[in-house]
Amino acid sequence: MTKTEQMKKIRDEVFELKNSPLYQYRTENGFFPVIGEGNHDADIMFIGEAPGRNEAKTGRPFCGAAGKILDDLLASIKVPRENVYITNIVKDRPQNNRDPLPEEIEIYGPFLDRQIKIIEPKVIATLGRYSMEYIMKKFGLESELKTISLMHGKSFDSGGLKIVPLYHPAATIYNRDLIKTLEEGFKILKNI
Ligand code: URA
Repeated sequence: MTKTEQMKKIRDEVFELKNSPLYQYRTENGFFPVIGEGNHDADIMFIGEAPGRNEAKTGRPFCGAAGKILDDLLASIKVPRENVYITNIVKDRPQNNRDPLPEEIEIYGPFLDRQIKIIEPKVIATLGRYSMEYIMKKFGLESELKTISLMHGKSFDSGGLKIVPLYHPAATIYNRDLIKTLEEGFKILKNI
């Protein structure tokens, strides 16, 4: 199967994921699952948390307010969005943008694991606390976990794969001072 065919298979499976606690909320509201978007041969993979309203309406990751900030951050390091792959751990929108629950991360995590295998990125940039914790644990770096303020912009190595935890772009909506911090984090990413 080609990479695109493997991704489509993931999309079809998530579409039919009736045992997800978020399935009914999706179908009752005419939402779509958000699988991911971008270059299937990307060197950098960005992993966010879960779709927001705009994302669930369109099926595209990071296309609302947080997406605009992510686009600006990518532009600040001159990396075209088409060159990277962007996804989330949780593929369906949690009610009213609440934080994902452990059981939701558990049910959607295996799909993310498959996406990482398909893309084989050189660098994984996590956006926010939930994807940071999931990815650090998945790659055997649990003992390095600290609060996101201490992890942001640092690079961790797991068998040649680089993992760079970053604040979630939406954090800058509530704390404008974080924009500079995120820009610095993206510069570090660029250098890696
Ligand atoms: N926030 C996320 O974590 N992911 C999206 O796709 C949009 C907003």
